[in-house]
Amino acid sequence: MEPLIYDLSSPGRVGAVLPESDVPHTPLPEGLLRAALPLPEVSQIDVTRHFTRLSRLNMGIDTNMYPLGSCTMKYNPRINEDTARMAGFALAHPLQDPDVSQGAMYVLYQLQQFLAEIAGMAGCSLQPAAGAQGEFTGVLMMRAYHRARGDHKRTRMLIPDSAHGTNPATCTMAGLKVVELHSDSRGNIDLEALKANLDDTICGLMITNPNTLGMFEEHVEQVVQLVHAAGGLVYGDGANMNAMVGVCKPGEIGFDVLHYNLHKTFSTPHGGGGPGSGPVVVSKRMLDFLPGPIVIAADTEGDENAPLYEFFTPARSIGRMRAF
Ligand SMILES: Cc1ncc(COP(=O)(O)O)c(C=O)c1O
Repeated sequence: MEPLIYDLSSPGRVGAVLPESDVPHTPLPEGLLRAALPLPEVSQIDVTRHFTRLSRLNMGIDTNMYPLGSCTMKYNPRINEDTARMAGFALAHPLQDPDVSQGAMYVLYQLQQFLAEIAGMAGCSLQPAAGAQGEFTGVLMMRAYHRARGDHKRTRMLIPDSAHGTNPATCTMAGLKVVELHSDSRGNIDLEALKANLDDTICGLMITNPNTLGMFEEHVEQVVQLVHAAGGLVYGDGANMNAMVGVCKPGEIGFDVLHYNLHKTFSTPHGGGGPGSGPVVVSKRMLDFLPGPIVIAADTEGDENAPLYEFFTPARSIGRMRAF
């Protein structure tokens, strides 16, 4: 067990010896003087060895595979970590004026467009910080959609037994009742069980495709039609989008909301417990509920010097999911 650096402290020990000052001493004004700081007193070699030992406790791609994620992408190439660390991203401050953040905002805007296009959806928010938070975001949007139409009795969410554990946890956190749907003998959602549970109290269905058994739902279009016919919405858990990218689009199948696990499908840096990235994409009717701010193309008509991109929060947004 590596001790705290404070435990290595020994009175009088110093890490750096400064040369004698050769200019006159000038006392600082009283009000600027700090009280003594309780810093550890350690030698330079103590500091170097302490932090080198700590760095070896990091989970990293050089020594291990990343331990998170039940599916698809688990390898996060170093080049992605280097890219994420580029000064233009790493040193940008979220509160700096959008006028001087246009490059970063362009990247965010493009990414939103790409993710919406890949899923065949109408819009995107990059806010959620992980897959599970993307789910929570999506379910809050579904709830808000029904409530905005004055439909307050839709409090049940259908979840197949092949779903990831975060799906029922998400619904419970959102105050919804989870109804488990059994799989049929081929690992698909049992259509009879689905029909038996459809009524005007369902908020919707959460479906992972391919599901956690690794199977593409054979009747996915029928499932979506049945849920929509009952007035429910369809949530797509996109953790396994790796299998669908470039092959088919959840939006075209009729999904209303989907989260991506960028740390799986697109190998975003994700190590040793996070952070991940779980952007949500939505169909047209859900656009107004997206968490903000999102980046939109500004109306620059008549002003060629106006910034091209601006932040925007949709009118009935569920709000922010995290600080930035
Ligand atoms: C199917 C599925 N949904 C959701 C999640 C949750 O994603 P995250 O770990 O980014 O919160 C996972 C993660 O393993 C998953 O496999």
